Amino acid sequence: MREGTNTVVRREDYTAPAYWIRTVDLCFELDPAKTLVINKMTVERNADRPAEPMRLDGEDLNLTRVLVNGESVSFRVENDQLVLDTLPDGSFSLEIRTTCAPEKNTQLSGLYTSGGGFFTQCEAQGFRRITYFLDRPDVMAVFTVTLKADKAKYPVLLSNGNLLEQAELPNGRHMAKWHDPFPKPSYLFALVAANLVAREQKIRSRSGRDHLLQVYVRAGDLDKTEHAMNSLIASVAWDEARFGLSLDLERFMVVAVSDFNMGAMENKGLNIFNTKYVLANPATATDVDYAGIESVVGHEYFHNWTGNRVTCRDWFQLSLKEGLTVFRDQEFSQDLAGSPSARAVKRIDDVRALRQFQFPEDAGPMAHPVRPDSYQAIDNFYTATVYEKGAEVVRMQHTLVGREGFAKGMALYFQRHDGQAVTCDDFAQAIADANPGSELAARLPQFKRWYSQAGTPRVKALGRYDAPSRTYTLLLEQHSLPSTGQPSKEPYVIPVAMGLVSREGRPLPLQLEGEAAPVGTDRVLVLAEARQFFTFVNVDSEPVPSLLRGFSAPVTLEAPLADDDLLTLLAHDPDPFNRWEAGQRLALNRLLAAVQAGGELSVDEAFVGAMRSVLRHPELDAAFKELVLTLPGEGYLAEQLDVVDPQRIHAVRESMKQQLAQALRDDWAWAFEAHQVSGGYSPDPVSSGRRALANLALANLVQDAALRGDAVWPGKALQRFKDAGNMTDRFGALAALVNAHAELAAPALQRFHAHFKDEPLVIDKWFALQAGAPERDGSVFARAKALLAHPDFSLRNPNRARSLLMPLCLNNPAAFHRTDAAGYVFWADRVIEIDSINPQLASRLARALDRWKQLAEPYRSAAREAISRVAAKPDLSPDVREIVTRALQD
Ligand code: TRP
Ligand code: ZN
Repeated sequence: MREGTNTVVRREDYTAPAYWIRTVDLCFELDPAKTLVINKMTVERNADRPAEPMRLDGEDLNLTRVLVNGESVSFRVENDQLVLDTLPDGSFSLEIRTTCAPEKNTQLSGLYTSGGGFFTQCEAQGFRRITYFLDRPDVMAVFTVTLKADKAKYPVLLSNGNLLEQAELPNGRHMAKWHDPFPKPSYLFALVAANLVAREQKIRSRSGRDHLLQVYVRAGDLDKTEHAMNSLIASVAWDEARFGLSLDLERFMVVAVSDFNMGAMENKGLNIFNTKYVLANPATATDVDYAGIESVVGHEYFHNWTGNRVTCRDWFQLSLKEGLTVFRDQEFSQDLAGSPSARAVKRIDDVRALRQFQFPEDAGPMAHPVRPDSYQAIDNFYTATVYEKGAEVVRMQHTLVGREGFAKGMALYFQRHDGQAVTCDDFAQAIADANPGSELAARLPQFKRWYSQAGTPRVKALGRYDAPSRTYTLLLEQHSLPSTGQPSKEPYVIPVAMGLVSREGRPLPLQLEGEAAPVGTDRVLVLAEARQFFTFVNVDSEPVPSLLRGFSAPVTLEAPLADDDLLTLLAHDPDPFNRWEAGQRLALNRLLAAVQAGGELSVDEAFVGAMRSVLRHPELDAAFKELVLTLPGEGYLAEQLDVVDPQRIHAVRESMKQQLAQALRDDWAWAFEAHQVSGGYSPDPVSSGRRALANLALANLVQDAALRGDAVWPGKALQRFKDAGNMTDRFGALAALVNAHAELAAPALQRFHAHFKDEPLVIDKWFALQAGAPERDGSVFARAKALLAHPDFSLRNPNRARSLLMPLCLNNPAAFHRTDAAGYVFWADRVIEIDSINPQLASRLARALDRWKQLAEPYRSAAREAISRVAAKPDLSPDVREIVTRALQD
């Protein structure tokens, strides 16, 4: 069954296809047990390639007929490919009939059933599980699709593009015919046949064209679609305003499905979404959920231009669409957030995620360039590196050419490549060509090392002030460690946004040696050599350097700033990102020192005082305060160390949390009371920031009270849990109890479950909260394990499986890494079990032990044993096989 295991696909082996498929006429007779697919293609030999057989991809299909120009022909099926040896010259028609079994498709790739309906997921290689095809993104065809199905069970029949025709058929069946005028690769094909209802909205675009927007959900969920629709309307307006890109279809559909491997999918005109990124009302969704919906709706909509109108030549170019589209959705959310402070909060959130997920990836066995050189399972390369680091690589281009310059570059990109399947080189070339005088244009080949070299570069900064000459010299050095397959690296082009701040916190004018006058108080230095000096003149007093403002490059900055410098930046840096960063540094330095000293930590008054001033600050936004007062995560701490003892890191961080809870008790009480939000629920940045800070305050107050045996704050939390007017407050109160107060948490959890038992997305939160709670005595692990047997738990629904397994295995190091290795045994069993159901899901979980080599004993040996046990299974999917093989390499 499983062919292709251990087959490596290489970027350098790319060749254009031997045939083009110009049109596809698909007809589906939908039946859960046996669906008939009739696929009529017009095919043309690619005259630029030598004559060779046509090899069509297929997987798990029953082939019943092959006709060329209406006549049967001889064919072979070889390694999952249908091979046609003798074909007419020029253009011909090819008809292929196959059947498949959607109800047996537990992988959720191709055509599958969910909640009694039919749905598809074709990216990256799911279309071959629907019919034989040249299933590669550089083969683009015009699709016409006819769906036939039982009318009562599947009243809604959707596919890409425009509806041509709808009719009744005998035997209670009906049909619909769709046509998509835009040629597209097979991975953008989609169909839906289900019992759904839609929220609809008519809009008129800037250019005066009318469009119909639809959000399809199950009948009971219509009251949870308002935010998704608003996000979609905002996305259409934003892409027109910022990039001049309009919606190119009369109808744009979003469909929610509860069984889905990822967040959502940008199929042309028919986006299919995980329910998690569509459904929200104030009673069921938190502020974080609302923000996630806005981002993902934006992301998929923006793909319509960056991904669909211009697509990828091959899957190595995945970041061409994903990095760029993540950059676009990040900018969208920042622009919607409005105020500089709210923009910075979004930026901090994004950088935190990058550091938490991408930095470890770049330092571990799955390290790969933004444009990878090889893969075994392409689904394994939908990674934080391709997405989030890819977005940073686009952001650096934006920084180097400026906002206007970038918009010009985008315009040139579409002028050159609309309707084409292209490469990351084509993108960077367009941005550079549109900005001939820029640093990017001047250094394009070197800049592109960001696409080809893996690993997180380190930038070391050293400053020296010379009072007599009133100069400040900054030495910047870059250095990159080897990664798998890349023993040595060449210097990058690194934009370092920066400023100098006086000891009193004043921004200083920036005049480099040789410049006639200062150029503002904020500028971008371009570090392009291994080491470079930058000398500032007319500097009145010894400054504090504020480097890498806004996190202008995805690097690790090593700047030996003293506590006093960090306190100055935390109090005064005009760049909010670096202000936050200074606070994180203060915490990090203390945490790391304590971990290295063996575990004892006692927080000093300077640090407590600084945190108190932020918390009590009269001008700072609540959302920003919440970020400053949230300590760096255990995963980020681990990445700063050569050898990791997860239990020690956890203990030290918990101890700091506890001491801050105690030392700031009155301040937390004030913060909680002062940040209540009254009136109707709105997910705007100001209200959500206030709720976030109030929830953090409450968590601290309950934690502190629990330790003292004080019942007041736990009681208040319980009351708030019961009375809350929205899910953010309710869940915040529940989390405060679960994290610190076992006796009150148990009945609250029960009550929460009973109340939301018919809301699957809320039950997911219920599982996740318990599996992600701070471990104390092994009880969190024990409970998570017991929850496997809960009647609501299932490994078949990805959201549910993830809700329990990901918080435990990927985000709760103290519960997962146990001296008795029970966490690893549990992990290996689940990876193996899920792999036979859904390899894509299994291989995400398989990555929980990526960083095993960094672990201290006894964790390290136990982890290797668990990985080896998975690797020893003979019939692993290529997905999981690739992850465990790489983990065990050298
Ligand atoms: N292109 C999708 C996105 O980022 C990603 C995606 C959705 C996907 N479903 C998938 C990738 C399944 C691989 C497999 O918007
Ligand atoms: Zn995407």
